[in-house]
This record gives sequence, structure tokens and C-alpha cells, in this order.
Amino acid sequence: MTLKNDVLEEIARIRDTGLREIEEATDAAVLETVRIRHLARKAPLSQILRGLGDLDPTERARIGQAANTTRRALEDALTEREAGFGPRVATAGVDPTRPGLRPARGHAHVLTQTEDRILSIFRGMGFAVARSRDIEDDYHNFEALNIPKGHSARDMQDTFFMSENIVLRTHTSPGQIRVMKSTPPPVRMVFPGRVYRRETEDASHLSEFHQVEVLYVDHGVTMKDLKGTLAYFARSLFGSDLDVRFRPSYFPFVEPGAEMDIECFQCRKRGCRICKQSGWIEILGSGMVHTWVLREVGYDPEAVSGYAAGMGVERIAMLRHGITDIRLFYENDLRFLTQF
Ligand code: DAH
Repeated sequence: MTLKNDVLEEIARIRDTGLREIEEATDAAVLETVRIRHLARKAPLSQILRGLGDLDPTERARIGQAANTTRRALEDALTEREAGFGPRVATAGVDPTRPGLRPARGHAHVLTQTEDRILSIFRGMGFAVARSRDIEDDYHNFEALNIPKGHSARDMQDTFFMSENIVLRTHTSPGQIRVMKSTPPPVRMVFPGRVYRRETEDASHLSEFHQVEVLYVDHGVTMKDLKGTLAYFARSLFGSDLDVRFRPSYFPFVEPGAEMDIECFQCRKRGCRICKQSGWIEILGSGMVHTWVLREVGYDPEAVSGYAAGMGVERIAMLRHGITDIRLFYENDLRFLTQF
């Protein structure tokens, strides 16, 4: 009799203290210590429940019922209070159940990607890659390329002059002169780089942009090599099933000169906005290195011949990705850059 009352009293005490402590808990951590004190395996209430089997049946029923009711009351109170605190560990400032924050990871600029692609196609055909200088003298940028002072071709490229004889290169072609003057043939090279022109900036013109120059000089290089190599290049870049054509054109440092077009990948020659209704897209300028230039760099035009080509990286990137304003490349707007 006494045992039973003692136990029932203890259960009532556990219940009262427990409920009060739950009520008074100031945060989830405190609540957790209350839970452990009253509901963990070694808590007095748990021990009472475990000891039920040793009691005689009438005691067992009443004590069991009281202990179970108390346990449920404490559990319910804990659950309710806990919900008021929000997720348990959030109060520590960390919620490990939330998806992680992926660290921002950069990638190559779309122009770098485009240049890399261009270079890798030429590398695959055995071309070496080199870089020339941005600041040039009049001789390498113009004279040695068969563009003498007063030549009307100088007007094709409005020039930034650093001084009377020093310019920011207006194209990557002076790299041809530097390579040929310092290396005996054969040369098979591409040189990417930044070029500068005094332009009024608009959606298709900038005063700084990028070109890739191509040069191959060897014994017996012909227009056939030029056409085969450049056509293979254009198809690798835009689509292997596209038509390519060469149109006669004029550049002082090549003869003959030709511009290469690729069939419009958008409309397949039907005419659209991208190809300005012509069905063709101009990709690059090219030609057989002028014998005058070969002689100027000290090569023997009787022994060697070669071709050269030059293309705009921004232009190619715009075509490949359907970009309609060249200024986007330089605004560093992540909404644009992260698309590539
Ligand atoms: N340098 C020329 C330009 O900037 C492009 C060019 C045309 C380069 C024909 C070449 C070439 O090597 O053969 O407009």
C-alpha cells in the first residue's frame, strides 16, 4: 500500500516538475536537458515503467497507467513547446537540413572560350600558338605589310598613335612580320591578340577587340591549302555540313586576297536576319602572302609561299551565340556572362 502511494506521488511530482520546467525553458537547448532529465532511458519515470513487471497486478495497472499518462503529458508538452522555438538547431544559427550554399565558381569569359576553341582547331592541324605585341611601330603595323605612308589602306583602320611612329596595333597581322623575320620557313602559326581602332562605339564596333591571325609559309603552299584549311576550320566551328565560299577581296599584304563566307547556319541560305538576307556569313579575311612581303622579311619568294588569314573573335562569338551587341562582352554583367 505504502509503496504504491509513494510511487504514485513520485509520478505526480515528476509530472509537476517536468511540466513546469518545460514551461520555463528559455530555448531549445534548455528544453533538451529537460527531456533528458525526465524521459531518457535512465530517468526516474523510465525506471518506474521498467519496474512494472515486478509489481503485483493491481499495483501494476494503476502505476502503469499513471506513469504512461505522465510520460505522454510530458512528451506532448515538449513537442508543443519545441514547435514554438522553431527547428531545434536553428537557434544555434545553423540548420544542417537546408540545402548547402554552392560557392560561386567562375569560368572563362565567353571571348576566352571562343578564342580557345579557335586556337584548338588550328592546334589540331599542327599550328603553333604565339602572341605578339600590342604596341607596334609604324613599320610592322603598316610598312612591312605593304601599306606605305599615304596608302589609302591606312584609312581602312583608324589608328591610335602613341607618337609619330608608335601605334596600338590595328590588327594582328604585324605578328606575321615579327615571326617571319625571326624564324626561317617553314612557319605554321596562329597568333591571337587584342587590337585597337579609333572607332565610334556602337552595337557592332568597339575601339578594342580581338583577332586571331593565321600564317603558314612553306615550300609549295598554294591557294588549295588555304581553302582546304580555312574551310575545315570554319566547318569545325559552325557545322561540318555547311557550304563555304571564297570571294575575291583586297588586302595590301596578300595577293590574291579572299574573304571566306560560310553558309548561314540559321537559315541555310534562305536569307534571314543573321546573314542580312544574303544566305552567307563572312568569317575571315585571307590570301596568299604577297611576294613583296616575303621579300621584305627576308624569305625567298622563289622558294617558299604561304597564306595568311585574320578573323575577329568578338564577331565569331556573336555569331556562335546569337549575341547582337558587342558591348555586352565588356560590361561584366553576370547575367550575361553566366549564360556561357
Ligand atoms: N588584318 C586584316 C584586318 O584586320 C585581316 C586580314 C585579312 C588578315 C587578310 C590576314 C589576311 O592575314 O590575309 O582587317
